Amino acid sequence: MMRVLFVTGNQNKVAEAYGILSPLGFYVEQLFIDGKAPDLVEPQAEEIEEIAKYKLEQAVSLTMGTEFENEAVLVEDSGLFIDSLSGFPGPYSSFVKETIGLSGILSLMSGETDRGAEFKAVAAVYFKDKIMTCTGICRGFVSENISGDSGFGYDPIFIPEEANGRTCAQLSPEEKSSISHRGFALKGVSELLIPPSK
Ligand code: IMP
Repeated sequence: MMRVLFVTGNQNKVAEAYGILSPLGFYVEQLFIDGKAPDLVEPQAEEIEEIAKYKLEQAVSLTMGTEFENEAVLVEDSGLFIDSLSGFPGPYSSFVKETIGLSGILSLMSGETDRGAEFKAVAAVYFKDKIMTCTGICRGFVSENISGDSGFGYDPIFIPEEANGRTCAQLSPEEKSSISHRGFALKGVSELLIPPSK
């Protein structure tokens, strides 16, 4: 099994990536350096692709000269893009979640009938001097209420199109990964790392 070192401080993302990539023949492990998950700087940028690439550069430079330098290094950046808010919070999703939170988003959308939104994830991997990136999108709606206990982040207010009215936080981890932005982005990256045999 090929090992993929995931550089993130988010345990939920590691668990999801493990669940998505294990059946595809990859062993996902969170990268720790000196016993700590490295803190990557997130630049303020308009596009999450740019943020992911910047995070990857930092992650790779941290592994250079260490026992990990010949291994695949993965980072990921994601966000929730709400149609009626012109894509907000998008690249600012982390900050917005920590400040106004889920109830703040629901208040911003109070009375709004266009609930369309999408989760987007960009996975970026460095392996054998190559950078590979893949984007995954999950279309859906912002719910009227906060519902469900599983998942993390915006899961309790996001209803994927395929989820029969349930929020991501009401799906099993397997159900979420089979339709999620992260599921699509990571599957894409897995095919770039090991192209499917014809
Ligand atoms: P980042 O990719 O870690 O910068 O995440 C940006 C924001 O989106 C954070 O508030 C995350 O909690 C949230 N987020 C990222 N992925 C997901 C997801 O799969 N479900 C719900 N929220 C997410």
